[in-house]
Amino acid sequence: MTNRVLFVCLGNICRSPTAEGVLRGIAAREFPRLPLYVDSAGTANYHAGEPPDRRSVAAARRRGYDIAGLRARQLAVTDFESFDYLLAMDRGNLGQMQALRPEACGAQVGLFLEYAKLDRDEVPDPYYGGVEDFEHVLDLCEAGARGLLARLAG
Ligand code: 4NP
Repeated sequence: MTNRVLFVCLGNICRSPTAEGVLRGIAAREFPRLPLYVDSAGTANYHAGEPPDRRSVAAARRRGYDIAGLRARQLAVTDFESFDYLLAMDRGNLGQMQALRPEACGAQVGLFLEYAKLDRDEVPDPYYGGVEDFEHVLDLCEAGARGLLARLAG
């Protein structure tokens, strides 16, 4: 059965589209037979319809991931039925998700980095940061994606 994964951040223009592109890219290379459907959304609608932040597009492109064609959308209550994993970038996102989560929801709702073996469990918001903060998002998304894929394939 297809593994349906939704990454969630605040704006859906920096962290969650990066996670989406990284998971899709690593899965295609390393787990080409794993049935996977990936998407991303933001808890806020400030940037709905917009492409990812150009700094995220550039950081992803430097590592071979193309996220330029993605478009932001807001998290919807129906996402809790449509996905098996709804993975937050930070605890603020997770709190917003729990508030929207229907009682009968059987999906896994948690922090993305719980699947990585790291000394941190949140992907920090790079929006007001510099190029190194966008690079750090890529590092964390690659670690999280590898951990998640090991779980899904295992
Ligand atoms: P993201 O980053 O949640 O990783 O997409 C942000 C993007 C935009 C804003 C905040 C965070 N904003 O305040 O507009």
